[in-house]
Amino acid sequence: MSTSTTDEAAPHDGERPRVVLGVAGGIAAYKACELLRRLTESGHDVTVVPTAAALEFVGAPTWSALSGKPVASDVWTSVHEVPHVRIGKSADLVVVAPATADLLARAAHGLADDLLTNTLLTARCPVVLAPAMHTEMWEHPATVANVATLRSRGVLVLEPAEGRLTGADTGKGRLPDPGEIFETCVQVLARSGGDGAPAQDLAGRRVVVSAGGTREPLDPVRFLGNRSSGLQGWALARAAVARGASVTLVAANATLPDPAGARVVRVETTAQLREAVLAAAEGADALVMAAAPADFRPTEVSTAKIKKADDGAAPPIALVQNPDILREVAARPVGPTRPGVVVGFAAETGDAHAGVLDLARAKLTRKGCDLLVVNDVSGGAVFGSPDNDAVVLAADGAAVEVGHGSKAHLAHAVWDQVVLRLGPASPDRPPRPGQPPG
Ligand code: CTP
Repeated sequence: MSTSTTDEAAPHDGERPRVVLGVAGGIAAYKACELLRRLTESGHDVTVVPTAAALEFVGAPTWSALSGKPVASDVWTSVHEVPHVRIGKSADLVVVAPATADLLARAAHGLADDLLTNTLLTARCPVVLAPAMHTEMWEHPATVANVATLRSRGVLVLEPAEGRLTGADTGKGRLPDPGEIFETCVQVLARSGGDGAPAQDLAGRRVVVSAGGTREPLDPVRFLGNRSSGLQGWALARAAVARGASVTLVAANATLPDPAGARVVRVETTAQLREAVLAAAEGADALVMAAAPADFRPTEVSTAKIKKADDGAAPPIALVQNPDILREVAARPVGPTRPGVVVGFAAETGDAHAGVLDLARAKLTRKGCDLLVVNDVSGGAVFGSPDNDAVVLAADGAAVEVGHGSKAHLAHAVWDQVVLRLGPASPDRPPRPGQPPG
């Protein structure tokens, strides 16, 4: 699992954040045990509210043991404590995982026929729903309308993941990785921590993030690559999901599980990265190039493994330059093929002639992007490290120092700068009602 960002999760000084974990009756209910474990181990006070159907899949003793609290699914247990009101009202976050088609329908229509739906009606905190169901149910117009209704009310409904479903079929409808749902919860809690930031200021926006490092094959077993871990791109994708965006993550050779709620396109080479980024950038509001594409590739890829020569001579490797994806997108006129805000990343060291920021300013101009996130790596590499120091340079002359912090912290600082520069949302993709236009 990647870096935990629980240091940012506490909305109350000295108090453990109170999370309600709702569990609806789907086979993925067992995965909520892992989410519960992560929440409790990272210091959250978790009350589990399963539906009666969820208890058919995972019994109350499991939820009770893992949360350290009694568990009820009806409104008739401990009535004197008025649990159907108290649990929702005192929560800092409600997350439902898995959220079935039935649960989405009941939540969208304001039904209150069990403890979980009562809790959803009384909660005034952020609500995250992680749906899991068969593709047909997810795509049914009834579910589509229910999801739209819930989103219009500010509920963060995560897109399900694609992959193997119960039985032999595959498609969209899997519960996202529980560790990644946990990361989303942490981000949402951090955003609702009272700093005045609108929680979902990317609602109605489509954003593209690239992550990881590309590999250029030399022969069937070897490649030229780099050390990029993908962590920063993951942090950007998670942060954008938590802020309500529709996110496509183009990931090169990263081994991390898909961020919850993001569409993930996995690629290997710079050519594949270019193709996927250009396709995803069509009609997008923002592109953030956090990937480290290989600048060069071997002129030829040997179809057979390159063998050692008897005389000890090493084979020459001729290289050809790869296209510069950031520059290509940024050079286009703003419109359907050029997102309104294009962001690059640069890891720089100063030299005898110029400082890091001078070199970065020159790169910003050369690349033609709107923002350039500059990491000063003079003191050592940041690849794979949980923390970053950065400055965000803007083509409009601004320079924002982000300071030392987690990759999640930098990700939100980048989205803050993107949000400031986004134009009005496209008329065919209006912001969700009740949300600011960005
Ligand atoms: N980038 C890209 N396509 C490439 C190389 C880089 O889109 N073929 C993007 C990266 O994703 C990053 C930005 O360009 O957002 C800056 O990458 P960097 O490697 O610093 O740029 P280079 O132009 O390769 O600069 P340098 O010559 O300093 O390595």
